[in-house]
Amino acid sequence: MTTNPNPAKRLWVGAAYYPEHWPESRWAEDIRLMKEAGFNVVRMAEFAWSTLEPSAGKFEFGWLDRAIDALAAAGIEVVLGTPTAAPPAWLMSQYPDSLALNEHGQRVQFGNRCHYCVTSPEFHQATRRIVAAMAGHFGPNPHVIGWQLDNEYNRVCTCDRCRGLFQQYLVGHYGTLDALNQAWSTAYWSQTYSAWEQIPIQIGGHNPGLMLEFKRFTTQNYVNFQRVQLDVLRPQLKPGDWVTHNFMGWFLGFDHYRMNEELDLASWDWYVGTGHHDYTTTGAVHDLTRGFKRQNFWVMETQPGSVNWSPVNNMLNKGEARLMAWHAISHGADAILYWQWRSALGGQEQYHGSLVDQSGQPRPFYYEAQALAKDMRTVSDLVADSAPVSATALLNDYDSRWSIQWQRHHRDFDYVAHFNHYYRPLAQANIATDVVSADASLDGYKLVIAPALLIMTEERARRLTAFVAGGGTLVLTLRTGMKDATNALLPVRQPGLLSDLAGVEVEEYYALNEPVPVAGKEVAGTSSQWAERLKVLDTEHIHILAHYGNCNGWLDGQPAITRHAYGKGQVYMIGAYLDTGGQAELMKIITTGAGIKPVLNAPAGVEVRQRVTPAGKIITLVTNHTREEQVLSLPSPVREHLGEKYLENLLKLEPYGVAVLTQAG
Ligand code: GLA
Ligand code: ZN
Repeated sequence: MTTNPNPAKRLWVGAAYYPEHWPESRWAEDIRLMKEAGFNVVRMAEFAWSTLEPSAGKFEFGWLDRAIDALAAAGIEVVLGTPTAAPPAWLMSQYPDSLALNEHGQRVQFGNRCHYCVTSPEFHQATRRIVAAMAGHFGPNPHVIGWQLDNEYNRVCTCDRCRGLFQQYLVGHYGTLDALNQAWSTAYWSQTYSAWEQIPIQIGGHNPGLMLEFKRFTTQNYVNFQRVQLDVLRPQLKPGDWVTHNFMGWFLGFDHYRMNEELDLASWDWYVGTGHHDYTTTGAVHDLTRGFKRQNFWVMETQPGSVNWSPVNNMLNKGEARLMAWHAISHGADAILYWQWRSALGGQEQYHGSLVDQSGQPRPFYYEAQALAKDMRTVSDLVADSAPVSATALLNDYDSRWSIQWQRHHRDFDYVAHFNHYYRPLAQANIATDVVSADASLDGYKLVIAPALLIMTEERARRLTAFVAGGGTLVLTLRTGMKDATNALLPVRQPGLLSDLAGVEVEEYYALNEPVPVAGKEVAGTSSQWAERLKVLDTEHIHILAHYGNCNGWLDGQPAITRHAYGKGQVYMIGAYLDTGGQAELMKIITTGAGIKPVLNAPAGVEVRQRVTPAGKIITLVTNHTREEQVLSLPSPVREHLGEKYLENLLKLEPYGVAVLTQAG
């Protein structure tokens, strides 16, 4: 169940604003344009360290006070960023060791972003000083509603200090070298360690156990860095203020569940780059972000039409960004902030899309954002108190994803693509899903899908088993249950600790250089990239949905997809990586069997999602992702709130059209 952490109970719309780029005499015009756009929030200061603290301990906060005041006078609230992603030149030249060392052993050059070594004590000290000063000064301001720590954490450092800390982390984790040597199978290639100091930091490919621990260590470093900030920030917050970080969707640098534990609100930066929006994959990223805290989230940045960093920085079509915003809201976003307000004259991002161009005039896109803001205001009271609901969950696991990405076994095998292979047919069938951690509670779900849950622990196995025993439907896929929590192979056949539950085991796995046929009464097609040969263990309770056809001899006639009755529930084991059509058929069988129904039947390319208030009021959001008009038949009369219409039995959506519905009467 998703809850809504939005204390102000409104929908937010605005932009990233950098008043420090402009003469103060210009601010009034910017703010007038923001007000006219209908914006109610801006994010500021996340890169303003050199302006806020021009030299060590000398703070210049007056300009930001004046900016906040002027915005507040226009009815615009503020999210403040701590500016640690852009440590200034005076600091980095004073402490050159605080610059990160890249994996080629070179110091990262000053002048871009996140150039710090995240464990540097001098950097921590400087961070504490600026964040404490900002918190003390701006924390009490009634117009500061929330804080963002840093900006898009992404750096890994390989310096000697980080290496020493990695060794200390391993001492804490394994206790003895014997335990570490055992867990990592270090007799392999004579990697046996006789002193902690011998253990290297990871550069490139290495021992799988070391690689996984290095990721966990990196996560821990960022958790510690967040704590440095939170320790001085939290005491200054007003009731209702929140702290977030702007994450980057599927970014793989650290475990996002751990990182979000100590934050109040999840947010992410959403960019399309080249091409256009695909709702069947971005929906998954919204759901992923919602799952970080199992709460509604913010889109802290999104492109005002175009970016500057992708191969072709094409503009989104007219109307596309508005549609994307409503799609995000239908997945639990409570805020849409465009990056950025105005194109700076200098700096690295001169050609990025913005709302106001280099001349200070609104770009054509500004008017689309203005129309969006108006609509968001219209339904803010209705929608802001609600959150999405779902009876289906997809499980996501960073450990499994890291492990697979390092040992793909098939060049094209990608964890996220495989995940989306399960997400997409659900999205296309208008079945809402949560995306949650593989360690989250499964209470309340009817259907749980665990794509490529490679790392299997006793605890995970226990919870998945209890879920099925209690009546749930579980979907296990290829590459399940292969490894333990140290990234070592489990000394059992896949799905390892889940074999009893699945009623089958994997006799062999095959990377495929060409598609192989898969055939059954209910589902048929081909498998590409991967195939697992299933051996039935529990003949009495297994139903085989499909076998492999003739191909490499090894797979010919062998079970490919099975369903096992277990307790009050059932478990699918899917050994094939089906083609799109086959996968859609299979997902239909699975969802129907689990008693999961679409919210509404809609034409292809139209998505229907619901948000529900604590009082149980249902708000239905419909987004037309096609460039044609679409018509839906309605089971009962509704009120459409954006156009203030009463609709008896038909909903007409214009190209890229959106509707916000409640039951009429
Ligand atoms: C990231 C950053 C922003 C900006 C945008 C440009 O998301 O957080 O500061 O650089 O990219 O797309
Ligand atoms: Zn370092």
